[in-house]
Amino acid sequence: MGVKLGILGFGTVGVGTVQLLQDGIGRNPLLQEIEICRVGVRSLDKPRPVTFSDRILTTDLEAIVTDPQIDIIVELMGGLEPARELILQAIAHGKHVVTANKAVISRFGDEIFTAANQAGVYVMLEAAVGGGIPVVQPLKQSLSVNRIQAITGIVNGTTNYILTRMQTEGSDFADVLADAQKLGYAEADPTADVDGWDAADKIAILASLGFGGRVKREEVYCEGIRQVSQTDIAYAEKLGFTIKLLAIANRVDKNTPSSHSAPPDLFVRVHPTMLPNDHPLASINGVFNAILVEGEPLGKVMLYGPGAGAGATASAVCSDIMNLVARIKAQKASDTNTELILDPLFACSHEQYSRVTSIDNLVTRFYVRFLTKDEPGVIGKLGTCFGNHEVSLESIVQTGLQGEFAEIVVVTHDVREGNLRQALTEIEQFPAIHAIPSLLRVI
Ligand code: HSE
Repeated sequence: MGVKLGILGFGTVGVGTVQLLQDGIGRNPLLQEIEICRVGVRSLDKPRPVTFSDRILTTDLEAIVTDPQIDIIVELMGGLEPARELILQAIAHGKHVVTANKAVISRFGDEIFTAANQAGVYVMLEAAVGGGIPVVQPLKQSLSVNRIQAITGIVNGTTNYILTRMQTEGSDFADVLADAQKLGYAEADPTADVDGWDAADKIAILASLGFGGRVKREEVYCEGIRQVSQTDIAYAEKLGFTIKLLAIANRVDKNTPSSHSAPPDLFVRVHPTMLPNDHPLASINGVFNAILVEGEPLGKVMLYGPGAGAGATASAVCSDIMNLVARIKAQKASDTNTELILDPLFACSHEQYSRVTSIDNLVTRFYVRFLTKDEPGVIGKLGTCFGNHEVSLESIVQTGLQGEFAEIVVVTHDVREGNLRQALTEIEQFPAIHAIPSLLRVI
């Protein structure tokens, strides 16, 4: 007897998933045990690249999640509602769930996993982060024997594509974005990608998995790439750096293991970052994603691959389905009346929250660009003000003129962000300062 699927949503990833499931040759034989029972769509009239036998397509999504014959619900609709509500209904009806929905999981993970653990079902989310890159299961399983220190990722393909083209072509953000939209690499409404929200959803999920404590999505610090200018990209290049939108979760105190009972305090953040050209993430270009996991004793592991697209995301969705099929079959073979005992390597069972520390306490290097009047003493005043706030400088140079203003670029040593910001608040008031157009963290 096959394992029965109900699929919610039949867009790009839904089509990719069905096509993969219908073409089992050369793939894991467990995929052949799957029967697609219902596919929920918005409209029955739309032409589709896959044809189904009668009664499989339906617009009644609630009938799918409550259908007693269905074992697994695959949620590929995206968006917050009705996806959240349908996932909860599926759980309440004893169904396992596979979802690619990072927005729902990062915001309502506590509600969803609490319900799933009580109902004794799994909610699987490999496709929610990194598209086809296996990163969720590795964090739950093989990497989890390590004490994770940091997870640093390029987890948004759209912004990486834009930054890569800005760097290679010398073009401005707005021009590359418009072209990326024309080519279909960026959405018509690019907000979630270019403002960093998509990456923030993903790092909240990765941090929860890696550090064993839930992360409140609203506590993730988030800056996007709209402010990254061609001028900064050119400076970065001169200084031997590349600018990438990084999503980072790291321990506040990397030397002190947290207690057995509490997850560690974390910094969780998304921002454009200058990274040295020899950093492993500096060479991840175009729409590709990569996630660098640092743990003790393992050291560094980087997972790299296609972060979006029908086939890649379908690979992640189907790997979750396959894992569930194996478990459902084993349970059916043992005793149909026994409740499934959740495997801790598959479930998300942590209930405590990691404390997310204010970015003011982050200690890192910074790049700051100033436009100032070109007159004696400006560099001296900047240096004095930084010194008063314990901001130690690695370099300060006047690089030339931008129109009538002198351009001054500062790179700091490791400093506390709060101190740097206090210094900048004072510096902004100096009569010689015209603007501070750029502030970038450097790793
Ligand atoms: N919009 C995402 C990206 C893909 O640009 O990477 C889906 O997670």
